[in-house]
Amino acid sequence: MRAPQAVTTVNSPAKANSITIDNLELTFPNGFVGLKSTSLHVPGGQFCTLLGPSGSGKTTLLRALAGLIAPTQGRIKIGDTDVTALPVQTRNIGFVFQNYALFPHMNVAENIAYPLKLHNWSAADRNARVKEILNLIELPHAGAHTVGQLSGGQQQRVAIGRALAYRPSLLLLDEPMGALDRRLRQQLGADLRDLQQRTGITAVYVTHDQEEAFILSDKIAVMSHGEILQYSTPRELYSHPRSRFVAHFLGEANLIEVESRLGDNVAATAYGPMTFSIPAGLQGKAESLALLVRPEDILFNSARTRDAALSQPLKVEVLRTLFLGSRCLVTVQTPDGKKILVECNKSDVPKAGTDVSITWDRSATVLIDS
Ligand SMILES: Nc1ncnc2c1ncn2[C@@H]1O[C@H](COP(=O)(O)OP(=O)(O)O)[C@@H](O)[C@H]1O
Ligand SMILES: [Mg+2]
Repeated sequence: MRAPQAVTTVNSPAKANSITIDNLELTFPNGFVGLKSTSLHVPGGQFCTLLGPSGSGKTTLLRALAGLIAPTQGRIKIGDTDVTALPVQTRNIGFVFQNYALFPHMNVAENIAYPLKLHNWSAADRNARVKEILNLIELPHAGAHTVGQLSGGQQQRVAIGRALAYRPSLLLLDEPMGALDRRLRQQLGADLRDLQQRTGITAVYVTHDQEEAFILSDKIAVMSHGEILQYSTPRELYSHPRSRFVAHFLGEANLIEVESRLGDNVAATAYGPMTFSIPAGLQGKAESLALLVRPEDILFNSARTRDAALSQPLKVEVLRTLFLGSRCLVTVQTPDGKKILVECNKSDVPKAGTDVSITWDRSATVLIDS
């Protein structure tokens, strides 16, 4: 969305609210532990995404934040206010859910005005606000349209507009684009990010889609089995995942289990023709280390590296190649049977069945210990 000047102050929170979640635990009545000790801080005005596979606890954390379910232990603060014991309606939160459809019997303007009506806004104030919101979501002339006249993406924009109408202090979104196709998700994702930036609202967004999380987020909390495994910027998560799970969940990852230890003080570790020093902090964990190298960092038959991780290029056989449009993904196999993914330019794809060699920069190798 391009930014019309008039809407820069639409949400204008005096000060965007931060979120502080402190050692939150949640056990469901049936005894299932939905959240293990969970802590998270989202500074005011930031876009935070909860990313994880289905069943990892994302919705549970979002619902606890909203006040829809009560945690068993721990505290939640919005800004300086401890809201742990406050009911949902007093937390002043805007919601958008995948299945939280618009009211089909109301037109677009009535849908957006609905929460304002609940809060007893006057008709004049409601109308002015609906106009602002329609501009904000770039559907200035859609007020009188029925819901059925809108595309899926437009409906979702109206749902976001409706959530923002009452000037909430936080915006929570649970897989709001789950029902849309990929292209539309990318477009709406960019629109949503733009809208969040212009309103300056603090947002928490739930998705299982890594690409969506990358497009939208200031920071991503990667969840698995009711826990946040890592909370960091998209770049940091991609380049320095701290666990095999995070490495695999965010993009293609080659994880090479470390095979041997060199020397008694475990100062270095080895894989085939590679030796690698272990940073002091990880030296006690040599047994559980893996080396991560991303497919796009691996080079074929090349001496282009400045500081090759491998003392000799590794001889491998090309098993198969996958054409992905803008790039190719090649699976190669080492003599001892390890499969490694290599991303390459579509113009220099080796043939399946041929022998090639690979290497990569030392700086492209990350040590992972869990
Ligand atoms: N009311 C409930 N009672 C018992 N278990 C629940 C309840 N709600 C969710 N769960 C379980 O908690 C886990 C996390 O669910 P959820 O937060 O919805 O995951 P996600 O949103 O990441 O897909 C799942 O295993 C789910 O079955
Ligand atoms: Mg969910």
